[in-house]
Amino acid sequence: MKVGIIGAGNLGMALAKNASRNAEVTAVKRNVVDVEGVKVVDRMEEVRDCDIIFVALKPDVFRKELEKIGGIAGNKPVVSFAAGVKLEEMEKCIKKPYRAMTNLAIEHRSLIAYYPAETLQQISFLDAEFVECNSEKELDVMTAYIGSSPGILAYLLHAFILSAIRDGVDYEKAVRIAVSSFKSTAELYGRYGLEGMVRKIATPGGTTIEGIIRVEEVQSALIEALSSASSKAKVV
Ligand SMILES: NC(=O)c1ccc[n+]([C@@H]2O[C@H](COP(=O)([O-])OP(=O)(O)OC[C@H]3O[C@@H](n4cnc5c(N)ncnc54)[C@H](OP(=O)(O)O)[C@@H]3O)[C@@H](O)[C@H]2O)c1
Repeated sequence: MKVGIIGAGNLGMALAKNASRNAEVTAVKRNVVDVEGVKVVDRMEEVRDCDIIFVALKPDVFRKELEKIGGIAGNKPVVSFAAGVKLEEMEKCIKKPYRAMTNLAIEHRSLIAYYPAETLQQISFLDAEFVECNSEKELDVMTAYIGSSPGILAYLLHAFILSAIRDGVDYEKAVRIAVSSFKSTAELYGRYGLEGMVRKIATPGGTTIEGIIRVEEVQSALIEALSSASSKAKVV
């Protein structure tokens, strides 16, 4: 299988590395770089013989290049990972348009949201966990909750590190502890849910509950942060 990736920047190259584990990948960017396992070229025309084309351009660049990409793709499927560019816009120039959203962790393995349902057939060769969106609106929301969220949540992890350092833990240990605690949290949440975790971790009158009581402000700030990113994703 041959995969063409137009816009081999941060996200495009991460997708290229994932795809290259199961396919022959040609990635397009104007400033060519050497990447192991990926053929990097500077002309879009070179993906003409690919079986499928992924687009990971910035939304404004994608809109400018829609006609050209449509001409190159012909009857081949085009899956856009770009924020905001709607199927209706793509359909004007592209015969078989699909949309998906993921984040930089896709280089190794991550979650991919997609819409419409038939998109899965096009992307299932990727090493990923897949989640189907019920509407294009829901896919747009995923730009914030899947695409941007690592960049936002990293600040929470960093705050954790700073706090540990303030309490006397050295930097390297603080980073290890923070990363491990965030991983453990996700695992325990999946297993027990929030109420189960409170029951199992917070001893009545103990230390955990003192922290839980004060975390409400962080919760509100996080809701605001993710909602702001989500609102912005609707207008890019
Ligand atoms: N970064 C993320 O974490 C992330 C997560 C989810 C979704 N996304 C989405 O992915 C898209 C790309 O974001 P990004 O952060 O990966 O941006 P980026 O790093 O700027 O990547 C875009 C790439 O497109 C290339 N490019 C620009 N004009 C081109 C053209 N005319 N022909 C071919 N290649 C061209 C650029 O490389 P040259 O300058 O060498 O041409 C650039 O490396 C956006 O729509 C964004 O919403 C990104």
